[in-house]
This record gives sequence, C-alpha cells and structure tokens, in this order.
Amino acid sequence: MHKKFENTQQWLDFDREHLWHPYTSMHSPLPCYPVVATDGAYIELADGQRLLDGMSSWWAAIHGYNHPVIRAALSEQLLTMPHIMFGGIAHPMASELGQRLIDITPEPLQHVFLADSGSIAIEVALKMALQYWQSLGHLNKRKLLTVRGGYHGDPFACMSVGDPDNGQHHLFTEVISKQVYAPRPTITFSEAWEPSDIDALRELLEQQHNDIAAVIIEPIVQGAVSMRFYHPSYLASLRQLCDEFSVLLIFDEIATGFGRTGELFAMSHADVCPDILAIGKALTGGTMTLAATLASRKVSQGISSGSAPMLMHGPTFMANPLACAAACASIDILLDESSEATYPEGWRNRISAIERSLKSLEQVADHPAVANVRVLGAIGVVQMHNLVDVAKVQARLVEKSVWVRPFGHLIYVMPPYILSAEQLSHLCTSIVDTIIELY
Ligand SMILES: Cc1ncc(COP(=O)(O)O)c(C=O)c1O
Repeated sequence: MHKKFENTQQWLDFDREHLWHPYTSMHSPLPCYPVVATDGAYIELADGQRLLDGMSSWWAAIHGYNHPVIRAALSEQLLTMPHIMFGGIAHPMASELGQRLIDITPEPLQHVFLADSGSIAIEVALKMALQYWQSLGHLNKRKLLTVRGGYHGDPFACMSVGDPDNGQHHLFTEVISKQVYAPRPTITFSEAWEPSDIDALRELLEQQHNDIAAVIIEPIVQGAVSMRFYHPSYLASLRQLCDEFSVLLIFDEIATGFGRTGELFAMSHADVCPDILAIGKALTGGTMTLAATLASRKVSQGISSGSAPMLMHGPTFMANPLACAAACASIDILLDESSEATYPEGWRNRISAIERSLKSLEQVADHPAVANVRVLGAIGVVQMHNLVDVAKVQARLVEKSVWVRPFGHLIYVMPPYILSAEQLSHLCTSIVDTIIELY
C-alpha cells in the first residue's frame, strides 16, 4: 500500500523528481504551479489563490471548467458504460456524436473516425490520404505538402508536416520523413489579398504533384508555432490548386474548431471544404481526450476500392463512450441559444464580444518591446520583439491572479467563452500592465 501524500509540498516534490511535464527538461524544468481544483473561469492553486483562466487548458475548455451540463452527461455515462472496445461493437454515444459532427461540418464530410487525441486524428488523416492514392494505384503519391510555420502534433508523421525550422526536425534529422514545404502564407487576415501569395505553393504542386498525396494546413490560424492569422483567399486558392493537380486537401482544425476564430470552423471564413478534416481539443469542452477525422465519400470510397480496403487504425480508446458523451454535451452547449443556455445571445455574438474585449490588448501596440498585437475571434496575441522569459512573465501574471502561458515571442490568450466583460478586461489589463512593468 502506497503512503498518501500528507501535504502539497510532498506531492509537488514527487512531481519535481519523477514526472515529466510538456516541452521541458526532467532535471531543470520550468516552474510548475500546484493546482487542486477548477471552477468555471477559475483555476485554484493549493494555497487557495484563484487564477482567472486565459488559456482554456491549451484551447480546449471553451465553456470553462466543470460545466454542469458536461458534468451531468459524464456522470450518467459513467454509470451506464464508461468504456467499451469499438472493434466489432457499436454504441449509442458514438452515433450521437457522429451525427452531430456530420451535421455541423460541410456536407461532403460523411465518414467519421473517432480518435483518442488530436495528433492521432492527424496520423489517421495522413494515413487516409496515403492509402487513398495507394488504393487507386497511384503508388508514387507518397509525399505530403505543407506550409512552413505549421504545427500538427508531436508523433513522427505529425512532426514531419510541422514547421521544418522551428519544429523538432533538427532533433531527429535522420528519422523524420522529408516532406515538401511551401513558404508560409504572408498576407494577413485583414490585409488586401494578393494572389501571388500562393505562387510558390502552386509551383511546388506543378513540379511535384505526381508524388504528392495531400496538402495539410491549419486553416486561417497557424497556431502553436506562431499564432499568425492569414488570408481566407489563400484557402480558397489552395482548394482550387488541389483540385487542379489531383491532390487531397487536409484541414487541421484541432485548434481552430468550435467557434474560436468567429466561425464554427475556420474554413468557413473562406467557404471551402477539405477532403479530410481533423478536429479535437474543444470537441469535449476540454474534459476528456477525444478527436475526430472526418473524410469525404470520395476518400472513404477510394480507400475501400483498393486491394486492402480496411483503414488500418484502431486505438484502444477509440470512440470512448465517456468522451463521446462529453463531446455531445459540449456541442449542445455551444449551439443552444435558448434563454437558459450558456450563450443565450448565440455563440457567434459571444465570440464577437470577446473579440471586441481582446482588442484592448492593442494599448501596447506601440510599446518598444512589442512587435505586433493581433486579435481574431477569441484569440488575442501580443508578439514581443524578443523571446519571452516565460517564468518571469508568468509569475507576474499569477501575482495579478490570471493564468496565461506564453511561448516563444508570444504572450497570448485563448480564454474560455464564458468569461464576462469584467473578467476579459481584467485578463487584458493584467497582460498590458505586466508588459509595461517588465519591459
Ligand atoms: C493544430 C494542431 N494540430 C494538432 C495538435 C495535436 O493535438 P494533441 O495535442 O491533442 O495531440 C495540436 C495541439 O496543440 C494543434 O494545435
């Protein structure tokens, strides 16, 4: 029998000694804050301090924490069937979720693979694209084309389509597959569109389309590498190019899905539909790990027409019923516009209101340490000229009782949609004041 930890310091010491945290060293890690509870818009530290959340737990907890509707759905599912294998078994929660996903995404996307995390949804998307061309007998189509500045997850195939300079390529040079990398889109969301922005990608497709199975891209927002917002016309042109050169198009909406950019999915800014779509993160309202890859009939039929018609993927926790129940509840919360709803004014109006509040970050746009301030939907970004000292900035923000996790040159927020105008104002003021105090 293991001894229970008797106080915060004991379990923190264990954590420091034995537990790996994301993107940090085991032996000289960045500081960790001890968290014991979450409640709505707040994260509670072990000493009782409550931090206003600006991150939605890496962009997932869109309705804040412990939402009563998701909690009730989970409790009910916990009693009925927390988990069951999906091999040879169907269950109602998977169908409930599948139906919702087909309803809220463009009509061509009809076939759903319920994966257990965002990166696995990307692995599945890439596998679908490669298998599609194999099944049709185009055996050369084995490469993937992507734009620089992207992020699609940490497993090896995902890394191979991530940014080749700022990603992890330099650590695993001999192991990561070499893909085809186009320059990143440069025209921003609100600038006038310049068709030449996509010329370099067109050239790569012209030269190499016989070897390229698919283009993969994060629509509108290049998230985890740079938090840049690019022009919707880039996506519309990309769709045309993929059709012209017979290459599949994969959209990674894992970070952008479920309203974050002001549209339910970021691809709607350009009114385009991919052949394959990956979603995750906010899918369960940030409560359970679940993601999905949706494919068009063309893709699923292509795969099925081959000599190996099975899609060879099947994680143990595929379509986990608890996670599916949370996802159904989260989607229902988002779309409910009744007077008792979480967003009675409608999610779209809610995101517009958040966008207006986040614009107050523009107060530091002319600060000498600040390179750029940009806001889109419920995403607010302050890009600094120099690398941010994460520990120092975060400590100062915690003193102001807000939770923001900077990275690289960026101090940014992706708050839960439930934050009130006062809470959003406190979040932005805390960031502005921190920048003025420290720089
Ligand atoms: C665009 C994008 N794709 C894929 C992933 C990977 O998702 P997960 O961390 O759930 O594996 C992320 C995570 O940040 C992401 O932002």
